[in-house]
Amino acid sequence: MQVLVVGGGGREHALCWKLAQSPLVKKLYVAPGNAGCAAVAERVAIQPTQIDVLTDFVHSRRIDLTVVGPEVALVGGLVDRLTKLGLKAFGPTKEAARLEGSKSYAKALARTHNIPSPDFRVFQSLPPALTYLERAAHYPLVIKADGLASGKGVRVCSDEAEAKEHLLDCFERGRFGEAGARVVIEDFVKGTEASVLVVTCGKTLLVLEPARDYKTALDGDRGPNTGGMGAVSPASLPPETMTRIEEKILIPTVHAMAREGHPFKGVLYAGLMLTPAGPRLLEYNVRFGDPEAQPTLARLKSDLVPLLLGAVDGSLDQVTPVWDERKAVCVVLTSGGYPGEFKRGFAIHGLEAAAEDPDVRVFHAGTERKGERIVTDGGRVLNVVGLGATVAQARERAYAAVKKIHFEGMHYRTDIGAGL
Ligand SMILES: Nc1ncnc2c1ncn2[C@@H]1O[C@H](COP(=O)(O)OP(=O)(O)O)[C@@H](O)[C@H]1O
Ligand SMILES: [Mg+2]
Repeated sequence: MQVLVVGGGGREHALCWKLAQSPLVKKLYVAPGNAGCAAVAERVAIQPTQIDVLTDFVHSRRIDLTVVGPEVALVGGLVDRLTKLGLKAFGPTKEAARLEGSKSYAKALARTHNIPSPDFRVFQSLPPALTYLERAAHYPLVIKADGLASGKGVRVCSDEAEAKEHLLDCFERGRFGEAGARVVIEDFVKGTEASVLVVTCGKTLLVLEPARDYKTALDGDRGPNTGGMGAVSPASLPPETMTRIEEKILIPTVHAMAREGHPFKGVLYAGLMLTPAGPRLLEYNVRFGDPEAQPTLARLKSDLVPLLLGAVDGSLDQVTPVWDERKAVCVVLTSGGYPGEFKRGFAIHGLEAAAEDPDVRVFHAGTERKGERIVTDGGRVLNVVGLGATVAQARERAYAAVKKIHFEGMHYRTDIGAGL
């Protein structure tokens, strides 16, 4: 079959790398991909936001399966368009993708269906939100821009001044565009964060082993929040916690979506706070996480295609994925300055040497080919994954490979997987 992967980050390189190994895949395309994807897939110069162009491409080339990485393409309705044409696409429809595309939608669904999630109110303009702060607020509280904001729309506010600042960013300064025209103010809950992912066809749920991610730029969870600086797979939770998450949050969500007339297919990712009173839902994502997908896919031993097709066709009950027993540690190499401003176009050295170890995978994220050279082309540049019998060994392998790579301004955390 012919397969298209939509997206161009480390997650999509890992998807391409895994799909290319499937005996079922005869031809693999990626739109737009990156320099690393080019080794296993044909790159097509279409962005994930170009829904019409993507639809035409899939239709005219008779692509048998489209695998959508980024949320923008899902919220933009790519899967609906393809499905209408009788083409198979992995991921939720536009309506189902609202679980990620609108935080107020997700919160309302949780409230209606008794899915445990912090209490909240929704505001559509500044004055009532300010009135709420003056009259009823307890700090800390959490203010969330409703729509997609690339991980920047949420602020945990410790006092009124901070809360006002974020409300102004949303309603007055338009910092998040349309995504900030509606705001959720949510009660703060304390605990340990975890994310649990399932692949689902809308009926059967297949829970994936959880990964642990590292969000802040600097060691010791210091510095600004980023799109992700590393991940470890698996990061197992106690079985009774997993059961509780499945029974109280994941299954009710999939049922609720079906009952609301928007059956959910694809990856459902629950962002959770494990509180003393039990797990609480903070948010949903509707696709694989990046970089958590990289160490997770590096550990998938069985073919990825039947798993994806099982979700699309509604036959997930027939699929049993097989995982590598080993642990995987993923270290993200970033451009100097990220998540703030950074420069692009620096030559990357040592990629081949780093990939020599058979227990290391080097996935590209923000890279481009420029003549003979591979250069940096994004904030998150490379994802180096090490596999090992223990997290310590996986960590050692990953960092040994990282030390062979160099580009100007290269930055990474040195504590990914430490102490696990
Ligand atoms: N109700 C809450 N209580 C405490 N912390 C929260 C709460 N909601 C969100 N957070 C914190 O803010 C982060 C981002 O919020 P989240 O809802 O996951 O939005 P996004 O990933 O879209 O930025 C979470 O990972 C968590 O650390
Ligand atoms: Mg989140």
